[in-house]
Amino acid sequence: MATPTATSPQHAGAFLQGTKRLLIDGELVDAASGATFETIDPGTGEVLATVAEGGAEDIDRAVKAARRAFEGEWSTLNPSERGRIIHRIGDLIAENAEELAELDSLDNGKPKAVAQAADVALAADLFWYMAGWATKIKGGTVTPSVPYLPGAEFHAYTLREPIGVVGQIIPWNFPLLMAAWKLGPALTTGNTVVLKPAEQTPLSALRLGELMLEAGLPKGVVNVVPGFGETAGAALAEHPDVNKIAFTGSTEVGKLIARAATGNLKRVSLELGGKSPNIIFDDADVDAAIAGAAQGIFFNQGEVCSAGSRLYVAEEHFDQVVEGVSAAAKGIKVGYGMDADTEMGPLVSQEQFDRVTGYLKKGQEEGSSAVAGGNNIDRPGYYVEPTVITGADANHAIVREEVFGPVIAALPFSDVEDLARQANDSHYGLAAGVWTRDISKAHKLAKRIQAGTVHINTYHVFSAELPFGGYKQSGWGREMGEEVLNNYLETKSVIVGL
Ligand code: NAI
Ligand code: MG
Repeated sequence: MATPTATSPQHAGAFLQGTKRLLIDGELVDAASGATFETIDPGTGEVLATVAEGGAEDIDRAVKAARRAFEGEWSTLNPSERGRIIHRIGDLIAENAEELAELDSLDNGKPKAVAQAADVALAADLFWYMAGWATKIKGGTVTPSVPYLPGAEFHAYTLREPIGVVGQIIPWNFPLLMAAWKLGPALTTGNTVVLKPAEQTPLSALRLGELMLEAGLPKGVVNVVPGFGETAGAALAEHPDVNKIAFTGSTEVGKLIARAATGNLKRVSLELGGKSPNIIFDDADVDAAIAGAAQGIFFNQGEVCSAGSRLYVAEEHFDQVVEGVSAAAKGIKVGYGMDADTEMGPLVSQEQFDRVTGYLKKGQEEGSSAVAGGNNIDRPGYYVEPTVITGADANHAIVREEVFGPVIAALPFSDVEDLARQANDSHYGLAAGVWTRDISKAHKLAKRIQAGTVHINTYHVFSAELPFGGYKQSGWGREMGEEVLNNYLETKSVIVGL
């Protein structure tokens, strides 16, 4: 246990006691190997809880349970019953908001207030939204014309069916919310799931698993198996009886997942990295744009796949914007996530701390400079300063690679015609921002930018109704909205000769 502080958890304390076990077939069980691992509080660097470490054998057990559930009770519920259970999951998330927010704050480092206002609220809303789809999934009727059967008449229709057993592998940046994004659509379409949370942040997914049972979800429909990527994650991605794998995380591991899926050609959806451009034109509301640029990179310690990490600013506003974003960076209260006045927490892990500080060093070596921040913060835990970089060049790593920390590179532009090319000069294509008062310019650019989400005069708007996902190497398929249902459904054509 972390040393109790003045801000010890009021709601999550009980859940942190004892070894947290895997949820398989409706039961909390030890790993087959008996192995456990420790999850760390990144705000202190100390052990937060001990968790059973799932491996290949546990994944296999969970897949078998999910298969039984898919063929059993779950498939006999009608869509309305299914929807009501999913809706109750949303209710229970809302009722346990403080506990879930504390778990994510302690496990990930993010401010509890942010976890409660964003992660937990969005997770509940996602289930409420997805619950409604359960009763609205439908095929269509079709009149086939068959040239080689002149005069023949048919009645034909399509059925939308669940794919079966789904494996879901999620990251640590929004632990509860990523579980919700994955589970909501899989359940509303009638699939069953084996979920592997990130090894850095397994706690809220385990608690969510308990709440799902409380909501009336039949046993085995959702199984939660914490463990490491190379073992539990890889076993899930290559399992021959998993029909579909959904992954959120690094582009590098996304490619491994796609490869592992070839064994049985399971369906694959991927939500991967980004290096999203945020563009401020000469005719923008500069104050709003400055606030939006700062929020676009510093929200959630910058550990957001769609973070606006490349800031393109019209030359005439460059100094003012850099000054404004730097002032915002310097004004952010960085601290322990459970402290009420904390605005930015630590990074999630030693590994992520090393990666981000590595990029800060690399930026210096490449010749760019930090006008705000630029260093780690000398205290226990994995804290870095909100950082604004100038003087970087389009070829620098700090402009091309995903840093996944509170680090923004600001670049001036003068040639508006060349902007779309610059914005699209990336292997990634997840999100973008455009700040201008000229609606024609805004919509034209929105069309030309290769990204799954384009914000105009705003940034970081996530909503259950809006599809989210990537062009290019930012992924395959979309999360959320009606669109995500396609990730979890097969289509069958049924043809009747009349
Ligand atoms: P990662 O991609 O290694 O981890 C994400 C998930 O994949 C975790 O659950 C992990 O256990 C699992 N995983 C790892 N290796 C696996 C394998 N071989 N087979 C199956 N599952 C595997 O991400 P990591 O190492 O935590 O962070 C590295 C970088 O990835 C970050 O710096 C960031 O740039 C990016 N990232 C992007 C995220 C996004 O939301 N798109 C989220 C997290 C990280
Ligand atoms: Mg990794």
